[in-house]
Amino acid sequence: MARRKKLYEGKAKILYEGTEPGTIVQYFKDDATAFNAEKKDVIDGKGVLNNRLSEFFMKGLTQLGIPNHFIKRLNMREQLVRAAEIIPLEIIVRNVAAGSIAKRLGIEEGTPLPRPIVEFSYKDDSLGDPLVPEEYIAAFGWASQQEMDEIVSMALRVNDYLSGVMYGVGIKLVDFKIEMGRVYEGDFPRLIVADEISPDSCRLWDIETGQKLDKDVFRRDLGNLADAYTEVARRLGVMPSNVTHTPTKPTLIN
Ligand code: TMP
Ligand code: ASP
Repeated sequence: MARRKKLYEGKAKILYEGTEPGTIVQYFKDDATAFNAEKKDVIDGKGVLNNRLSEFFMKGLTQLGIPNHFIKRLNMREQLVRAAEIIPLEIIVRNVAAGSIAKRLGIEEGTPLPRPIVEFSYKDDSLGDPLVPEEYIAAFGWASQQEMDEIVSMALRVNDYLSGVMYGVGIKLVDFKIEMGRVYEGDFPRLIVADEISPDSCRLWDIETGQKLDKDVFRRDLGNLADAYTEVARRLGVMPSNVTHTPTKPTLIN
């Protein structure tokens, strides 16, 4: 059998050419990085968890009519997605001050923001993904003004959905990052949510205890990252609780 073609390898995922034109196989690695890959480790089972969690969230978006790249899960670590022309922006939505906004503005972490804030970083690791104003995005042609309006409104809808789902299982959605891409229908581009939605790219705090259940556990050395993600998956009913610790035996998936 011909070997499939690797299209791209990133920090947490590998993309292979899909089986049908216009599709891509997204493989979730166990690698974790932080601070532009200055800090690295391999977290047993993280890829399996993120594959399932991203599937869960993307399917939820589909149910709400929010277009996204997810087609189907292929196996424990891979999913088939629609190929999209990725807009080179990290679209960040914040509900509560944490991370870079807390630092930049001197706001105490955990302070609720007056309303959800949408911000954009230019996707370039060598520059440290710098925050960019909409003026740059329009001037450099990364997205049109009409696309920007749509990106903001889709990002806020994703925020409403994710906040609600998380609230339902006792978790506060502090912030998250998504990426969007264009797919073409005839000559017309349409925006879809792409990449992944997982605890790698969200801040998730337990509502009762404030315990962190996201990649900050790794960034800040707060404990076992796979355990935190497993807890999120367990609460959402996405996965049995022991899955990360039984990787040696083949298991049936459905
Ligand atoms: P920040 O507070 O570091 O700017 O991050 C805001 C949110 O975006 C947080 O949930 C983590 C996520 N994020 C990524 O997923 N990838 C990135 O490269 C960055 C900078 C943030
Ligand atoms: N910037 C990402 C993060 O800290 C990961 C990385 O850049 O290595 O979430």
